[in-house]
Amino acid sequence: MKNIVLTICDGDDRGVHEAHLSKYLGPAATDRILDLIEKGQVRGKYKEFNLINGDGSGRGLDWILLMGLGRRAQLEDPSRRQDRIRSVLAIAARHFRRKNIGRFAVEDFADYEVTPEHAGQMVVEGIVLGLYRFERYKTDASRKYPREQAIREVVVLSDSDRTVLDDSIARGVVCAESTCLARDLVNTPAADMTPEAFARVAREVVASVGGLEIEVMEEADLEAAGMGLHLAVARGSDNGPRVVIIRHRGGRGDGWDLALVGKGVTFDAGGYDLKPSPYMERMYGDMAGAAAVLAAMRTIGLMNVPLNVVGIMPLAENLVSGRAYKPGDILTSHKGLTVEVTNTDAEGRLLLADALSLACSDYHPRHVVDIATLTGAIVSALGQFVTGLFTYAATDADNEAFARQVFAAGRATGEWVWRLPVDDDYKVQLSSDVADLENCDTDREAGAGSITAAVFLKEFIDFESVQAWAHLDIAGTSMMKRRLIYNKCPYQPKEGATGVGVRLLTRLAVDLARAAS
Ligand code: BES
Ligand code: MN
Ligand code: ZN
Repeated sequence: MKNIVLTICDGDDRGVHEAHLSKYLGPAATDRILDLIEKGQVRGKYKEFNLINGDGSGRGLDWILLMGLGRRAQLEDPSRRQDRIRSVLAIAARHFRRKNIGRFAVEDFADYEVTPEHAGQMVVEGIVLGLYRFERYKTDASRKYPREQAIREVVVLSDSDRTVLDDSIARGVVCAESTCLARDLVNTPAADMTPEAFARVAREVVASVGGLEIEVMEEADLEAAGMGLHLAVARGSDNGPRVVIIRHRGGRGDGWDLALVGKGVTFDAGGYDLKPSPYMERMYGDMAGAAAVLAAMRTIGLMNVPLNVVGIMPLAENLVSGRAYKPGDILTSHKGLTVEVTNTDAEGRLLLADALSLACSDYHPRHVVDIATLTGAIVSALGQFVTGLFTYAATDADNEAFARQVFAAGRATGEWVWRLPVDDDYKVQLSSDVADLENCDTDREAGAGSITAAVFLKEFIDFESVQAWAHLDIAGTSMMKRRLIYNKCPYQPKEGATGVGVRLLTRLAVDLARAAS
C-alpha cells in the first residue's frame, strides 16, 4: 500500500500523537507530523484533512491522509465515535478517488477503543456509503469520474484477530451495499419504478440472496384478501398495485418474531387532493419505506440472522384519473374497520393499515415495525437528520422496552430516531360522523399531523398477538436536498436518497435475535 489514512484527535498530548502515529509511520514522518501539530498547522479538528507526502515514512508511502476526529471528549459516546469514524472515512475515500488513487490502507481505530468487531464494518460503511453516486442514467460522457477512477482496494491494518475483523468487514459490505440498493430504488424515477418494477427487483434480490421466500400479491389477490384501503389508493393508476412479501426463516421456532412493513407509494401526486408542484417534485421517493424493508430483508438473509422475519411491502401509485378514489369515499379495510377518506393525500396510512392488518392476521408476529415517508409534519418536527419514532404495546413495560431497543439500534447505526407520543387522546382528531374513523384530521389547527397518522396506524394492529409495534416516519430523513443542507453528514449524499432504515432495521433484527437466544 502506497497510501494510508490516519486519524488524530484535536488537543491530544504530543506523547499520545507520537504513540499513535509511530505505530504506522517511521520516526522521520512521525516527527514531521508532530512538528506540524506543534506549530498549529495541523489540529485534528473534526473533518479536517491534510494530505502529507509520505517521504520518510519508512514504509514507502506516497501519501498520508491525516484526518481529524475532533476532541477526544467527543468520542466518548460509542455511537458518536462510530459515526465520526464513518464520516472521516467517507471524506478520505472521496478525496483519494478525486486524486485517482485507487488503493489505500487504513488504521483499525484500536487507539480509540474501537473493537475489531466494529472496526471493519465502520470502515467499509463509511467508504462505500461515502463513495455512492446515482449514475444509472448518466452516459459515460457525463459521469463525474470515468469508471476506471474508483477505489479498488482498502487494507485495514490491525493486530487483532483476523477472523473477527474479516466478519466485521463482511457485515459492513452487506449493510453498505444494501443501503446503496435502497438508495438506487428510491432515486429511480417513478416511470421506471412502478409497483410491478419494484416487485421485479424484489424477485431478483431474493434470487441472488438465496434462502428467502417471496410472494407477490396482485390486484385480484388484494381483492380476495379484502384490502379495500390499498385498492382504493391504487385505483387511480393504470399501474396496478402489488404487495411483495419476503420471508426469512432463520429462527428456531415456528412463529414469526418480526414483521417489517414498508410504505411503497411509487409516486404520490396526492390524488384529488392534488399536491402543489413544489411538493410533488420528489414524490417518486415515496416508496423509501418499502425500499428499506427490501434492502433490510437482503441483509437479514445474507447474514442469516437467527430470527423468523417477514417483510411486507404494499405498493401503489397515488394519481388522479376517472377511476381514482375521492374525498368522501367510505372504504372497508382488511381489518373490517371502515374509513372515511377526508384527504386523498393521506394515502400512505391507508396502504400501511391494510398491510399491518395482513401482517397481524397472517403472521401473528411478536414485533412489528413499519417504516414510511408518511407525513410532512415530521419534517417540521425533526427536520432531515432524525427519524420520528412512535411505539405502542399492550403494556407500558413492553412499550418502553421496545422503544429503547429501536432507539439503541438507531444510535448504533448512526440512523438517529427521536420518539413522539402515541396516545389515545389524539384519536378524537380522527373521529368520523359516518365511518369508524377518518384517514386524516380535517382541522389543520389541531396540529400533531405525524402523531395522528401514527394513531391511525395503531388501530389496525392486533395487540392481542403483537407484543410491541414501532412506526418510523422517514419523510424527513429519506432524501437529502442540497438546498437544505446545513450540517451535512459526510457519508450521506448531498442530494437524493439516503437509504435510511436499512441499517437500523438490520441492527434491530440482530439485537432481537441476540435477546431471544
Ligand atoms: N408522502 C407524503 C409525505 C411526505 C412529505 C413525504 C414530504 C416526503 C416528504 C404523504 O403521503 C402525504 O402526502 N402526507 C400529507 C398528509 C396530510 C394530507 C394529512 C402531508 O404530510 O401533507
Ligand atoms: Mn400523500
Ligand atoms: Zn405519500
